Formats: sequence, C-alpha cells, structure tokens
Amino acid sequence: MSFLDVLADKLTADAELTPDDLKNILQLEGEETLRRLYALAYEVKTRYVGRKVYLRGLIEVSNICAKDCYYCGIRRSNRNTRRFRMSLEEILNEARWSFEHDYGSIVMQSGEIQSPEYADFIEQAITGIKELSGGKLGLTLSLGEQTEETYRRWFDAGAHRYLLRIETSTPEFYSTLHPADHSFSARIECLKTLRRIGYQTGTGVMIGLPGQTIDHLVGDLLFFREMDIDMIGMGPYIVHNETPLANRMPEFSAEKQVTMGLKMIAAARLFLKDVNIASTTALQALHPRGRELGLLAGANVIMPNVTDTQYRPSYQLYQNKPAINENSEQSRLALEKSIANIGETIAYGEWGDPRHFFNRGQ
Ligand code: 5AD
Repeated sequence: MSFLDVLADKLTADAELTPDDLKNILQLEGEETLRRLYALAYEVKTRYVGRKVYLRGLIEVSNICAKDCYYCGIRRSNRNTRRFRMSLEEILNEARWSFEHDYGSIVMQSGEIQSPEYADFIEQAITGIKELSGGKLGLTLSLGEQTEETYRRWFDAGAHRYLLRIETSTPEFYSTLHPADHSFSARIECLKTLRRIGYQTGTGVMIGLPGQTIDHLVGDLLFFREMDIDMIGMGPYIVHNETPLANRMPEFSAEKQVTMGLKMIAAARLFLKDVNIASTTALQALHPRGRELGLLAGANVIMPNVTDTQYRPSYQLYQNKPAINENSEQSRLALEKSIANIGETIAYGEWGDPRHFFNRGQ
C-alpha cells in the first residue's frame, strides 16, 4: 500500500496523524500524488467544516510599524514606503461597504503600533463598526503584539477574533528572521493571553523561507495543535527586494512556493480538521488561481481586500501583491466568479466562526 492509501484508511478510521505522517505529507511529490492529497484534505474539509467560503473584508489600517522583521516590506527601516494611517471615517466607510455587501466579517490589520493613542483610536473604530452594523459585523484584529490591557479593551469593545502569526514555531529559526530585540517568547505569551481573554485565536507561519526545513514545518503543525489554535493564516514567503532576507534567497521559484503552501494547507486540514484555514493573498500573488487552489486543498476562508485603492500600493509586505489597482467592487466580482467556478458558495452574511472554538476541550 502506498503512503496515501494508509493515510486514507487512517482518515476513514478517524485516527490521529503522527509527526511522521505530517513529514511524509510534506514530502509528497508529483502532480497525480498531490492531486490525491488535496482531494483527501478536501474530503476532510467537507466533513468537518463544509464547502462554504467565509469572507473577511480586509482593511489595511496603517503601514506604520515599530518592528523590523527581515522579510517584511513595511519594516521600520524601509524608507521607500510612504507611511499612512487611515482616518476613523475611512475605516468606518470600508466597514460599512463590507457590511452592505454582506461580508459577514472584517479584519482590521496594521503594522505594530504600541501607544495609548493608537489603542484609543482602535477602540473607537471597533465601537463604530459595531454601531454601524447593529453588532452584526464580525470583527477580527491583526494588530500585532499588545499589552494584556489593550487586548482586553479591544475585546470588551467588541472584537472577538485575533490573528497573530508566530511566523515560525522554532525559536532558533525565529531569531534568524528578526532583530535580537524581537522576542519569540513574548509572542507566545501574547497568543496565550488572547486565548485566555476569550478571543478566537489565530496564528500562522510563512512557508518556504530561506533556511526553513521540512522539520520546521512539521513543528509548526504540531505547534498549532499544542496551542489549540482556532484559525490558521499561513502562506508562502515572497521576496521583497528592500528587505535583508532578499539576499538569502537568490533562486526564488514561485511554483515551489505555491506547492509547499498548498501541502501545508492540506496537512493542516488533515491534522487539525475543524479549524478555519485562510487561503491567503500570498498564494494569489504567486499563482493566478492561487486562492482557489488553496480552497481545493482544504482552506475555507478568504480575506478580500476592501482597502481604498489609494493606500494599497503602500501596504506591500512582499512584491507583486495582487489587486493593488483594483477597487473593492472589482475584487468582489472577481472572487464571486472564481468561487462559483470551483463549485463552492460564499457564505454571505455569516460570521463563520471556527467550529474548533466551540469544540475546544471536548
Ligand atoms: N512574504 C510573505 N508573507 C509575508 N508577511 C510579511 N512579509 C512577508 C513576505 N515577504 C506576512 C507575515 C505577517 C503577515 C501580515 O504577512 O507572516 O505576519
């Protein structure tokens, strides 16, 4: 029997996958083999979370960032990016647009800004979003590391999900991707705090980083399980020329990055089953049908950009970010078409909470 036959039997029997299984999955190769892998993951997705796609309208609130991550285009040291912060009114307009188009949920994302003024500003935005939608719009935050007090204030104001990627779960590898004052353990503490406060908690990693091994990625999947994570947002690493990491990846293959990204999505779905998994923009940046391929490999969430076109060019975490000239309506129509093409439906108007959040501890 081939490894995939054994895997299929395990899934039918609802048996736990082992670290070796995960490693084998990530090492699979060949078009036909991978097609079977994605089909297995799709079956598990169908069984545990269904075939609906949940939307989170993504508002890129600000690219001002205190961090200096070696891979990221909006790192503090990049002087060639025009820095912006949206006004409260702009944020509310984009939230209203998302609400009126039945997006169900939105995400506010920004560079990391830790200041009392920013905490107040975000709190006002949360309150405003809740008001304009009569509490109906779901709200995720992705605003980096903050104090427990800030996380609590934002939760009390009405945010109920938080995304904070660990980027890699291997501390020694983390330290090669960040300056010495970026603390791995502080990030872990943040994830624990978020969970304790009651947020539906999401994390994720970059895939295909220079120096990253299959064992690192297996470790990442085990980390998601160990932290009892509800939502996963992970995608391929993409070079940004104005960052230090660009030199460490002289040979960049979009195809390899996409394949490893899809294998990780499939492995996460097969291993964790009832979590929400995003098909991320980075996949779309490397492949015209990247987001659809992500859905077919086990993802169930898409985050369409609803940021005003004037700001999109300044929020480039990596090069060739897609849709920077496209307005929100064009993004929406393109997405509808591509999702219908793969036979799935958009869950308009639904929050689409991760099942795992309610199944935790059972
Ligand atoms: N390639 C891919 N993803 C990136 N991110 C930052 N820079 C890059 C890059 N060069 C991801 C990080 C971060 C998220 C907002 O974007 O994982 O957490």
